Amino acid sequence: MPEATFYFPPDFKWGTATSSYQVEGNNTNNDWWAWEQEEGHIKEGHRSGLACNWWERAEEDFDRAAELGQNAHRLSVEWSRIEPEEGRFDDSALDRYRAMLQALRERGIEPMVTLHHFTNPLWLAEMGGWENPRAIPLFDRYAARVVEALGEFCDLWCTINEPNVVVFLGYVMEVFPPGKQDFRAAMGVGRNLMRAHAAAYRRIHELQPQARVGFAHNIRIFDPANPRSPLDRRVAAWQNRAYNETFVAAVIRGRWLPPLGLGWALRLRNTLDWVGLNYYTRDVVAFDRRMGHQLFGRNFHPEDAELMDGGYGELYPEGMERSLRRLARLRLPIYVTENGIPDSDDDQRPRYLITHLHRVWRVIQGCHPVVGYYHWTLVDNFEWVEGWTLRFGLIEIDPETQARTFRRSAYLYRDIIRANGITPQIIDEYAPEIRSVLLPG
Ligand code: FCB
Repeated sequence: MPEATFYFPPDFKWGTATSSYQVEGNNTNNDWWAWEQEEGHIKEGHRSGLACNWWERAEEDFDRAAELGQNAHRLSVEWSRIEPEEGRFDDSALDRYRAMLQALRERGIEPMVTLHHFTNPLWLAEMGGWENPRAIPLFDRYAARVVEALGEFCDLWCTINEPNVVVFLGYVMEVFPPGKQDFRAAMGVGRNLMRAHAAAYRRIHELQPQARVGFAHNIRIFDPANPRSPLDRRVAAWQNRAYNETFVAAVIRGRWLPPLGLGWALRLRNTLDWVGLNYYTRDVVAFDRRMGHQLFGRNFHPEDAELMDGGYGELYPEGMERSLRRLARLRLPIYVTENGIPDSDDDQRPRYLITHLHRVWRVIQGCHPVVGYYHWTLVDNFEWVEGWTLRFGLIEIDPETQARTFRRSAYLYRDIIRANGITPQIIDEYAPEIRSVLLPG
């Protein structure tokens, strides 16, 4: 019997994802740059600096993406460059982004543009950032300028990257700017981000009727540490609801669910044309009365789990399938807007990539419309609080010399894209240890 290939649909989008701050370099005019300058925020005192120097040389990495056969790329535009002062827009910044998008098109790569990926212009941060409801009309106006300037080359828009991560890391865990632990502020920021999404959704459609607009949602699986403990089950369910469900409910059903809020949010209803999944890993959760700020859950990894570099998380491909199946209930097209692993020596990534894509494939077999996959990320880049210590790239970079080296996984991704699927030969070449799991018998 011939062995199976896990084929993807013929028009499937194969891409990588990046964000402006992490790759462009010298984004000095936003809250993250300021955050970096303060002692103790970034591991080993690392700095984003020139990052991957995309502001000057993105096209060279687009060549590399094209060489790997990618037909899609997700990038973000930097609000603080486009609107360096409130109300003053910089056409030269928009021109640079036009050139980047055109360069992608010329290489047969379809861009998806994210409007907000974690960073805020300093002037916005100084007025209270997303705690200030003025952020909503300001974002709306900024979105309009971007779509007017870039709409010729793009109609696939991602309004906001991971609102739940912005809230959790910036207003609960104190690790992203503004570094607060303030539950009320956290929930207010969460609601304002989703209101801004809805406002931008409408604005973009007004300017570009054919636009497809969504947002990138980080789903983390929370499983009870002891499934027989009602308290563990309860806290895992709370965390799941707060982190994974409330943000989506707002823009699908037009409802605020606790703890994000309570009552109707009717103007937010049905403001998604597609939904993006950023999936990385899962936690197990145990009840712990000291962990009030995390809804009384203590999160950790199972003892026998295989961990990624720096203890970033457990390798848990099943979570990809579980997350996609949840989102499939929305009956919208789904993009995997991010998925990847920090793995500087690339000994786990080939297996990670194959097993996670195999899960995507399984979900597609169930007739769920997963239409594209953007691997995080093309080239190692500045990984927020982890600095340069975590390496997510298919391509390795030396930030000092800017030299690039293809990792084996880059060729693996190229081969998968070429085959438009995972063939037995690919498994044998890149991750023979999982052959018996994926190709039993
Ligand atoms: C996601 C972020 C992205 C990157 C990856 C590793 O949460 O959206 O910018 O940092 O994690």
